[in-house]
Parts: sequence; structure tokens; C-alpha cells
Amino acid sequence: MKRVTVVGSGKYGSMTALRIAEYDIVDSVVMTDIVDGLPQGLALDMNQSRYVEQFSTKISGTNKYEDTHDSDVVVITAGLPRKPGMSRMDLLEVNAKIVTDVTKNIMKFSESPTIVVVTNPLDQMTTLVSEISGLPKNKVIGQAGVLDTSRFAYFISEKLNVNMSDVEALTLGSHGETMVPVPSQCRVNEKLLTEMLSKEEIDEIVQKTSNGGAEIVGLLKTGSAYFAPSSAAATMVRSIISDTNDVMPACSWLEGEYGISDVYLGVPTKLGKNGVTEVVELELNNDELTDLKSASEAVKDKVKELNSIINQ
Ligand code: NAI
Ligand code: 2OP
Repeated sequence: MKRVTVVGSGKYGSMTALRIAEYDIVDSVVMTDIVDGLPQGLALDMNQSRYVEQFSTKISGTNKYEDTHDSDVVVITAGLPRKPGMSRMDLLEVNAKIVTDVTKNIMKFSESPTIVVVTNPLDQMTTLVSEISGLPKNKVIGQAGVLDTSRFAYFISEKLNVNMSDVEALTLGSHGETMVPVPSQCRVNEKLLTEMLSKEEIDEIVQKTSNGGAEIVGLLKTGSAYFAPSSAAATMVRSIISDTNDVMPACSWLEGEYGISDVYLGVPTKLGKNGVTEVVELELNNDELTDLKSASEAVKDKVKELNSIINQ
């Protein structure tokens, strides 16, 4: 009996729950929220699509943590999204309280779940869940890199007018201003991106990628992106549940890899049934490595800020 719980049944959570259910890789997906009736109503609606879409996974909605018992994987999406003009860091204090509460409750009913964190600011919330849950570091992972990479790939495919399947892209670092797109690892039809576009053109794409989330927030005016983000989280869950050990960029705990330690940061990660199986060390060029190190320092600073807020 395999179960995935998605905490937070807003835009991101509900779309993630549906995608996981449609993969048909678990017996049940449980959606929770603090809003009475929201997860229940959405679950009913999703279950009524099963006949048309032909998937077996049962979806349930609840406001009680008891119903999340024995989850194999938990995705935490509970929290506030950005409003236009807000940075992800503006969400730090309010989302830290929500994520702390959610994590404590989840751990009461599931002994050793793998937790995929989504709530922003992502790197700090992942660190917080790790601390509060007491789980081994490999069992707590944040989602950002798959999304940022997918955005990067989209902008590359548009620029070069090629199919998405021809593009290989990668972003590392943190989910925010210190995102690290990695052109040296990007190829189009196996040709290096750096041989196809000028530095200025690549910089422009990198800038669009870093601004990808904010651009959507600005257009939507209320709420943030959730179609691409939910694909990213659901893909991570699939690799964990199906124990495929696929390599994807994820916010993982570093212990010396890339010369960086004691921080959650976006790096290429093998994801299997126990969460992180391995952090994969690619050959980055000096600039990329320097950017990754700067990103790790920025995350560490923000974690200090988070700790001072929590300990106030
Ligand atoms: P939303 O506002 O649509 O949904 C959030 C849900 O969380 C609401 O239904 C709310 O009732 C629920 N909630 C609030 N407090 C709760 C609690 N204590 N327990 C359970 N549920 C609670 O927002 P959306 O679009 O779903 O975004 C969710 C989070 O994901 C935001 O923090 C957003 O910034 C983040 N995000 C992260 C991305 C990433 O790449 N890591 C990408 C996109 C969004
Ligand atoms: C995004 O990147 C806001 O983190 C959110 O879409």
C-alpha cells in the first residue's frame, strides 16, 4: 500500500496531487489543508475524472493529520505564494510558522516519510523541515531545480526554434536571485549551447530564467505559477516512489560535494526510495563553481536570518 500526502491543497498542491494520481504509481494520494471542505471538494472532483482518464489511484481530501498516516512521501506546499513585487524571502516568517506546524503534525503519523518541500523561500523551508522533522538529511529534499531547469530549457527552445526534446539544460544553486544556470552542461541536439549562442544571448536567457517565476506572478496578479512547478514536484515523487534513481537538480544536503558543506542547495541528485541516493558531481567550469559557492553562502546567510526569527 503506497501513499503520498500533499499538504496544502491550493494551486500547487492540488495540481501536484492530480499529476501524481494520474501517473498511477501509488494506491492513494491524500490532500490536506486548513480550509474546511477544500481538499475534500477537490478530491471528489479529481476522483470523478478517473473514469475518463483511466487511472486507479484514489484521491482523498482531509483536514485531519490522522488521515495522512504511514505516508511514503509527503509534499509540503502549504503556505502563502508571492504577490507582485514580493520576493520569495518576503514569505520567510509567515511560511516558517506554517511549515513548522505542518512538519510536526506530519511526523506524528508517519514514521519515516521522504519529504519533498515546495513552500517558499525554498532553500530555507527545506532546511527548516529537515531540522523540525529530525529525519536523516537524505529524506528531506526541496523542489526548485527541476522547475528552473524546465524554464531554462523552454527559453532555449524558443530562442533556437527547436523541439523541447532536443534540449538538455541544467540549473543549480538556490531558488532565487542566486540560481545558477549552467550553460557548460547545456546542449541542443548534443551540440554545446555555448557553441550555438553568444555569451550575451545566453546571459539574456539566463536572466529570463531567473525572472521566470516573477514574470508569471506579475501577469497573474494573484498567486504564482503552478503548472510547471507541479510537474517538477510530481517528477521528483515519481523517481522516489518508483525507486528509479533518476538524476535531477534538487535542493539536497551537501557534505563536501562541490567543495560545499552544511547547507541545502540545488545540485544534481539521484532520487530513489530513500530520497537522495547520491549527489552527482559534474565538472563545472570555474565561473559556475564560483557562482555555486556564492549561492551556498547566500543560503547560509538566509538560514541565519531564519534562525534569528524562529528564536525571537
Ligand atoms: P495557494 O495559496 O494556492 O495554496 C496554498 C495553500 O496552503 C492554501 O490552500 C492554504 O489554505 C494552505 N495552507 C496555509 N496554511 C496551511 C497550514 N498550516 N496547513 C495546511 N495548509 C495550509 O499557493 P500555491 O500557489 O499553491 O503555492 C504554495 C507555495 O508554493 C507558496 O509558498 C509558493 O511560493 C510556493 N511555490 C514554490 C515553487 C518552487 O519552485 N519551490 C514554485 C511555485 C510556488
Ligand atoms: C516560482 O518560481 C514563485 O517560486 C515560484 O514560480
